[in-house]
Amino acid sequence: MNMPLPHAPLQRLNEQLSAAQHAAPHIQIAPQSAHIGALISGVNLQQALSPAEVHTVRSALLRWKVVFFRGQHLSHEQQIAFSRQFGELTPGHPVFGHVDGYPELYSIAKHRKANRHSGQAEQRPWTGWHADVTAAHNPPAASILRGVTIPPYGGDTQWTNLAAAYEALSKPLQSFLQSLRGQHHFSAPQGATASQEYLELVRNNTLISEHPLITVHPETGENVLYISPGFLKFIVGLNTRESRALLELLWEHAVNSEFTVRFKWEPGSLAFWDNRSTAHVAPQDIFALDFERQLYRTTLVGEVPVGADGRASTAIQGDPVLASHNAAY
Ligand SMILES: [Fe+2]
Repeated sequence: MNMPLPHAPLQRLNEQLSAAQHAAPHIQIAPQSAHIGALISGVNLQQALSPAEVHTVRSALLRWKVVFFRGQHLSHEQQIAFSRQFGELTPGHPVFGHVDGYPELYSIAKHRKANRHSGQAEQRPWTGWHADVTAAHNPPAASILRGVTIPPYGGDTQWTNLAAAYEALSKPLQSFLQSLRGQHHFSAPQGATASQEYLELVRNNTLISEHPLITVHPETGENVLYISPGFLKFIVGLNTRESRALLELLWEHAVNSEFTVRFKWEPGSLAFWDNRSTAHVAPQDIFALDFERQLYRTTLVGEVPVGADGRASTAIQGDPVLASHNAAY
C-alpha cells in the first residue's frame, strides 16, 4: 500500500506535470476550471504514444482528474490500443456486456440497457452522479470515453473532483469520516420502473462491496471523499436516519459546482478520467431532444481501494473486475 504523503499532494502533482511536459514540449495542457479538467492538444492518439507522451498524459490525468482531447477520430481498435498504453482493460461492462466483437468496449448509446428504467422516486442535485462500477470490489481505475455521434446541443457530461471536495470539509468532519465505511450496490434506482431484461441482468450480476468513505489515492496519496451517489446505499453502523442525513450532506457538498467541470462533446472528442478521484453525471437533457447520441467507453482495471485508516475494501457479493484477455489488437 502507498502511504499518504505528508506534503501537499497538489504541489507535487504540479511539479511532476511540469517535469513531464519538459520531456514532451509539443503537448499543450490547458486547465478548464480551478479544480478539475484539462484539455490536451498536440498529440495524435491514432498512433502509439512515445513513453514521454504517455507519462505526460498520465501526469495531467493525476493532476487534473479528467483530461479531454478533441479531433481524435479513433476506430474501435485505435481506442482500445490507446487505452492499453495506460493499463490493463476490463471487459466492456460487468453487468451490461460489450460491443459485438470488442470485448473491452462498452456502448454508451442514448437508449442503452442501463437506461431502461424510469420514474426515479426523487430528483435531487446529486441524482445520476456516480463513479463507474463502484459496487465492484476493485472499481475501474479510469474510464476513457469517445464521442462518435453527438447532438448539436445538449448531452454535456460533468465531473467533480472528490479530492478537492474532501479538502474543503472541516477537519473534525474529515476525521469522523475516516472511521466510516459505506456499502455500494449495483441495483435499479429505488422507485424506478424497469424492464424485465434490465432487472434480470442486474439480478444475475449483483455486485455489492464495502468501501471506506475516505480512500487514499494509490498514485497521488490524496485523500478522496469516496461517495459514488448512484451506488452508495448506506453508511455501515449508523442508523437509517443518520446515514441518510450524512450522505445527503456529503453528496450535496461533492456536486457543488465549485469542484466540477462541464464538457461539451463533439464527434472525435475523448474524455479520460480518473475513476478513483472523481464522480460524473450523464446528461439527462438528451431525452428531451430528438437527437441520437453514441459514445464508446473502455475502462482500466482498478486496485482494491484502501481507506485513510489503512483498511481495504471488502467484497460482499460478485466477482472482482479482472482484465479482459482478448489480445486481438
Ligand atoms: Fe459512468
